[in-house]
Amino acid sequence: MSESAVAMVTGSARGIGAAIAIELARNGMDLVLLDVLDCSDTVGLIEALGQQALAVKTDVTSADDRAAALAEAESRFGRLDVLVNNAGVAPKVRADILEAGEDSYDWVMGINLKGPYFLTQGVANWMIRQRAQAADTWMCIVNISSISAYTASPSRGEYCLSKAGVSMATKLWAARLAEHGIGVYEIRPGIISTDMTAAVKDKYDKLIGEGLTPIKRWGQPADIAAAVAACARGELKFSTSQVINVDGGFHLRTL
Ligand SMILES: NC(=O)c1ccc[n+]([C@@H]2O[C@H](COP(=O)([O-])OP(=O)(O)OC[C@H]3O[C@@H](n4cnc5c(N)ncnc54)[C@H](O)[C@@H]3O)[C@@H](O)[C@H]2O)c1
Repeated sequence: MSESAVAMVTGSARGIGAAIAIELARNGMDLVLLDVLDCSDTVGLIEALGQQALAVKTDVTSADDRAAALAEAESRFGRLDVLVNNAGVAPKVRADILEAGEDSYDWVMGINLKGPYFLTQGVANWMIRQRAQAADTWMCIVNISSISAYTASPSRGEYCLSKAGVSMATKLWAARLAEHGIGVYEIRPGIISTDMTAAVKDKYDKLIGEGLTPIKRWGQPADIAAAVAACARGELKFSTSQVINVDGGFHLRTL
């Protein structure tokens, strides 16, 4: 069994997920990286920090992939302390909800909500089994949602619905797993500079410049990674189900 705590991060080939995985390695954890893309860049950066990384090509929407990833993680490390549900997609095309089609709805909801929900189910059952052998170790699950959980964007309804669902999933799992000493948190990113937002860079440059966010800059993947690491280190043990806004103050109402 691994001496270090082990964290599984979905969508860790690039962007926010890669930053989270690297920050957790900096905190002394070994990593299991799940993505449909090749994670070898992230693996190299983790190994350079002296930690181990196992990459498993996984589509979070596939029950077979999820089961295979958990089996590989168990055989390599024998333990799992942290799950970060980060993999997510925006609709390929922004479409008015008066027109938007079912294919995009199913695709976005499958990756952003259904896949993570059932991955959490598999991990939670494994963590409960581990708890019988390890009464005191810290275990937690961190969901990456979005300001879209509460901000209505009628040109990407399926994304907003999926992220609102992630918020409820956080509450459900927090309520169910508290008796097992497993914390569950929601990190709510604002506008973060990654491949996902590259296509709308000019639009958000302008909005941020005009004061959309009290802190007038783009968020960086490292901003999200720092919040996840605080949860993973166990600094918020009495705060299960807490939402942590990492959005430059976007959620503030001002007058
Ligand atoms: N960038 C932002 O401004 C922003 C804001 C709020 C929330 N978020 C959320 O943060 C998370 C990460 O976003 P990002 O900006 O790093 O995006 P990104 O597109 O740069 O990275 C997403 C990663 O998820 C992986 N992925 C996609 N579908 C997958 C699947 N079916 N199975 C496994 N992996 C899959 C991708 O291959 C990619 O590596 C997402 O959940 C996103 O909704 C991002």
